[in-house]
Amino acid sequence: MSDLTFNKIAGAVLATGLAIFLLREASDVVFHKEHPEKAGYAIAVQEETEGGAAEAEVAPDWGTVIPAANIEAGKAVTAKCASCHTFEAGGANGTGPNLFGTMGKKPGSHAGFAYSGAMVDYGNANPVWDYDKLDAFLKAPQKDIPGTKMTFVGLKKQEDRIAVIAYLHSLGSTLPIPAPKPAAAAADTPAADAAPTEGAAPAGPAPTTEGVAPQPAKTATPN
Ligand code: HEC
Repeated sequence: MSDLTFNKIAGAVLATGLAIFLLREASDVVFHKEHPEKAGYAIAVQEETEGGAAEAEVAPDWGTVIPAANIEAGKAVTAKCASCHTFEAGGANGTGPNLFGTMGKKPGSHAGFAYSGAMVDYGNANPVWDYDKLDAFLKAPQKDIPGTKMTFVGLKKQEDRIAVIAYLHSLGSTLPIPAPKPAAAAADTPAADAAPTEGAAPAGPAPTTEGVAPQPAKTATPN
């Protein structure tokens, strides 16, 4: 009897010890795993959000957005630029060059301003400040042209950049406003889903008509 009692007690002690050991192990596993997982997810979500937002942004159809843009709103946004830039014709260069007539001009070519080597190189590679190039530069100057002297964080909102570019376009731009893209115009209409199908049918037969398509192509080649 006493042996049996002893065995029961010993068994209970062992079982309790084992249970405690297992619980601690289990909690170690749980806690050690959980912390890194939570931290990891937090970082991953941020990166995905940033990357996703950047990818989701569609390049504007300038032929549609520029005529519709609010030039006065763009002028208001350029309060952020005024510490470094003047915008009127013949305005002085400051920390940054005067920006009258910038659109259509070669980047880094305004008279009397000492540009960074990075901007001069950029201008040699990209001879015209056009809509897309200004958009990319104004979004993140240092990222678009690493080494630029323009220490401005950038205009994160696409609507701000469109408004500013419309304002710059009103200031002696030599760039024409491009024709609106047909696809973008169709997408604006409620019947966007039906439009491509209807449009595709009449458009399809035309290029297959012999003699029409090849001739302009041959004419263009000698040039
Ligand atoms: C902190 C000063 C500063 C601010 C603020 C600033 N810029 Fe600039 N910007 C510069 C400098 C400096 C340059 C010349 C960059 C170089 O040489 O690398 C420049 C260059 C430019 C150019 C190229 C000009 C050319 O002749 O090729 C454009 C366009 C421009 N800025 C637009 C803007 C706009 C629009 C804003 C406001 C939304 C703005 N900048 C805000 C300093 C600034």
